[in-house]
Amino acid sequence: MTSAARPEFLLAIESSCDETAAAVIDSRRRVVSSIVASQHHLHRPFGGVVPEVASRAHVSQLLPVIDDALKAANLQLNDLAAIGVVTEPGLVGSLLVGLTAAKTLAWLLQIPLVAVNHIQAHLYACRLGAADDPFPAVGLVVSGGHTHLFDCRSVVEYELIGATIDDAAGEAFDKVAAILGLEYPGGPAIESAARSGNAQAIRFPRPMLSGQGLDFSFSGLKTAVLYEFQGRRGGPPSPQPTAARVSDVAASFQEAVVDVLVGKCERAISEQRRQTLIVGGGVAANTRLRGRLEEMCRRRGVRLVLSPREYCTDNAAMGAIAWESLERGRLAPLDIDVTPGLLRSPH
Ligand code: KG4
Ligand code: ZN
Repeated sequence: MTSAARPEFLLAIESSCDETAAAVIDSRRRVVSSIVASQHHLHRPFGGVVPEVASRAHVSQLLPVIDDALKAANLQLNDLAAIGVVTEPGLVGSLLVGLTAAKTLAWLLQIPLVAVNHIQAHLYACRLGAADDPFPAVGLVVSGGHTHLFDCRSVVEYELIGATIDDAAGEAFDKVAAILGLEYPGGPAIESAARSGNAQAIRFPRPMLSGQGLDFSFSGLKTAVLYEFQGRRGGPPSPQPTAARVSDVAASFQEAVVDVLVGKCERAISEQRRQTLIVGGGVAANTRLRGRLEEMCRRRGVRLVLSPREYCTDNAAMGAIAWESLERGRLAPLDIDVTPGLLRSPH
């Protein structure tokens, strides 16, 4: 399994939330194929992910997605050296679909099974775009379910140093999009509306930015947008929103979130005395956030390694982290269970 030897191939499976994904990654960490079947169209009418709908869609999508990943890699099942699968955190039914398929394949092919932590995999996605290993680093995972800051001493040693105390940043994007009448998922919709808006139009709060500590809070910001957009109860009704007003609110909200994320990353880098910042997760696809992080890291002389845009939102290529466990002999037993962890709070 050394990089000098002929590369071996690992199949990674991801089904923790609303994307069914499979990828083939070789032992040199090259993504040979990556297939993602999104369920967004199924959840859109409900304005968020419906767990039962997600599990059922994984059941029908997973085998075709695995087939497509193997075909795109020009491989057969027998060519695989191991199976990696996300076992935590996520929606319990969704995780179980992926894990059951992974166990079945590992048993059938008599190859190792490796458990993948979805949050660590989001950070590992940064490694896929980098010329060399970006660790040690401060790591930010900013997604629909998580806003976590880590001190990453090595590729396998992570210490949580900050987290949201309520909504995740992506969750705030999704909920604010619903307030503004934009489609699910809210992140891309807000980013696109914000392009023609004025980010200085409304001065929304920057929660927990000025205080000490590395924790986040986005639920008050969401409420501030609600009051601004719909008017306070008992107050004067807000005028009928125009497209220009939606764009201004979207841009001002996005700027507030970006200010907080960039500010906390800057504080974490300075407190941990790290020279590298790595950032992954769905919200890391946001162009304004990427630009502002670049600006901050350039100013501080810190190396920034962003997840490649295509591996920000959920995908199985980031399951390449399974190679790290495999190479350290950390295999999962065939009776391993899922660890769902925190679910997203309802609207
Ligand atoms: O990583 P991900 O696919 O799933 C979780 O692990 O949660 O992240 C999905 C989240 C959603 O909340 C979505 O609105 C947000 O990432 N997102 C974005 C953008 N693209 C996706 N947020 C801001 N800007 C974007 N361009
Ligand atoms: Zn994710």
